Amino acid sequence: MSWDEWDELVRPTDETTEFDRIVEAGLSRRGFLGGLVAFGSGAAAMGVGANLLGSTSVQALESDRFAFQPISIATDSTVHVPDGYTWDILVKWGDKLFSDATDFDHGTGGDPATSDRVFGENTDGMELFVIGDKQVIAVNHEYANPKINLPHTEEGKPQSVEDVQKLQNLQGVAVMEVIEREDGWQVVVDSPLNRRITHNTPMKLSGPAAGHDLLKTAADQTGTKSLGTFNNCGAGKTPWGTYLTCEENFNGYFGSSDESFQVPEDFKRYGIGLESRYDYQKFDERFDISKNVNEPRRAGYIVEIDPGDPASIPVKRTALGRFKHENAACALARDGRVIVYMGDDERGEFLYKFVSDDVYTPGASTASLLDKGTLHVAKFNDDGTGEWLALTEETTGMPLPEICIYSRMAASKVGATTMDRPEWVAVNPVAIEAYCALTNNKNRGIKPNAGGDATPVNGPNPREENHYGQIVRWYPENDDHVDPKFKWDLFVMAGNPDVKEGLYAGSENINSGNMFNSPDGMMFDTTGLLWIQTDGNDKNEEDFAGMGNNQMLVGDPVSGCIERFMTVPFGAEVTGITWSADKRTLFVGIQHPKAPFPDGDGKLARSSIVAVKRADDAKIG
Ligand code: FEO
Ligand code: CA
Ligand code: CA
Repeated sequence: MSWDEWDELVRPTDETTEFDRIVEAGLSRRGFLGGLVAFGSGAAAMGVGANLLGSTSVQALESDRFAFQPISIATDSTVHVPDGYTWDILVKWGDKLFSDATDFDHGTGGDPATSDRVFGENTDGMELFVIGDKQVIAVNHEYANPKINLPHTEEGKPQSVEDVQKLQNLQGVAVMEVIEREDGWQVVVDSPLNRRITHNTPMKLSGPAAGHDLLKTAADQTGTKSLGTFNNCGAGKTPWGTYLTCEENFNGYFGSSDESFQVPEDFKRYGIGLESRYDYQKFDERFDISKNVNEPRRAGYIVEIDPGDPASIPVKRTALGRFKHENAACALARDGRVIVYMGDDERGEFLYKFVSDDVYTPGASTASLLDKGTLHVAKFNDDGTGEWLALTEETTGMPLPEICIYSRMAASKVGATTMDRPEWVAVNPVAIEAYCALTNNKNRGIKPNAGGDATPVNGPNPREENHYGQIVRWYPENDDHVDPKFKWDLFVMAGNPDVKEGLYAGSENINSGNMFNSPDGMMFDTTGLLWIQTDGNDKNEEDFAGMGNNQMLVGDPVSGCIERFMTVPFGAEVTGITWSADKRTLFVGIQHPKAPFPDGDGKLARSSIVAVKRADDAKIG
């Protein structure tokens, strides 16, 4: 059934515009849930939907909780924030975490010998932890930009073991103490809490798949010890104060020296093939699938790291499934069980939820909380209801360890809803609801996913060839994140009302002044405002005219209002957001600028974390 057909079925009327019908469906769902407004549609409030609105909801529509004047788009090479706010660089790729590292050199892209002693490349998901009287940021270094990192090479292709090791060192995770001094925020160089985790750091594999034959290699015949974490994208923070780093496009690190090697069937669903993105396999046999066929099966997990103990061994939690993990958003069930929401960022893949068997008790051991539990996958019904389908031996016909290793195949077996590239999930701290950014999907309605699941439009993914993206939210039944049932609506459909009509113009809370495409990073602040970061097309013409560079916006879940807070340099995406302990500083990641940010013309572009403050030092969330 197409979106139009579904809409007509749910609410047959031709008296209103297409979007009003969607709004109305959303409103009636929210009405059922207690009268809140799903969309900021003035038309719906005054017209067809008015009978659904209580006075509280109308007030909510009109309220503006934003403590800033929204800014306009930018197409330049720097960062912009609203009047009354300032920004400054905290740290950039190549800056020292340890004083024995070599100073950054724009001619070489940094010294390979100390490349694991500096802040890595492509800053991404991050979380701030308070450890004793220290503030520590754990932050991902998602991938490498070899043309920039290895300026001496042709096209960024590594020429030596040393080149490969440098790329391996610049990725992974950094843990670093930060401090605010008279002249602003700084990394505390040589802090005993500082740590770099790379593609070669020893890790433990735990959970149901640990020790399985599919995870054993010649170097690790136990199947419980692996090296390194890969393509660390978004992140998460557990209620007990550990960091969750998420392995996303891990497939790109593995290749074959033998061109006739028969790629195992399960590799295809994950995009693992003979060619790698970085040519590691030419200099490091571990990444050669013709010699170490199980190595890629030891990647694609969520990894738990204790930011307070630099000697701790990171743990790959196989119970949380293996796919292209975007981030990990934790919540607690009413009875204390741990919920972890996770997106699989690939066109037509799925949205997951882990539910622990045991409850979290402050002070008690948390060592195995993320090892025992049930993985679920989301099914969204077109009538605004949905359910979490458990992935068990009974429902999938697969042994539990294989559910953990081949999670995508398990999810296909139970009939999960194919999604438009699930990026970050964010859990509202002041309401029982969660949001997922569905960034875009050019294949929606065009091609099946790699597993063969058809991808016609469906409720939360209502547009074919979706270049703009949307944010779906769900409300667990019984106000409990553990409940297998939920209701859902769309918080926003991004679009371009200047050049498009109908669904591609976006939802009613999108206008010429706040439009954007490809929502990606998302995080709630403590007041319940949703900060939305984009990773989209920034050419600022044709379908994207008027959207400018990538940006960060703030959304009000109650009113549906969305306003632009920040723009970043041309070519960069905004990804990664966390706050200082006192909430007076907002840290934001700026990844892969094309513009020579922040050092200026003639210098290498460097991914950076910026610290944003209010001039009056008031709280920002
Ligand atoms: Fe690394 Fe899906 O973003
Ligand atoms: Ca992302
Ligand atoms: Ca993205």
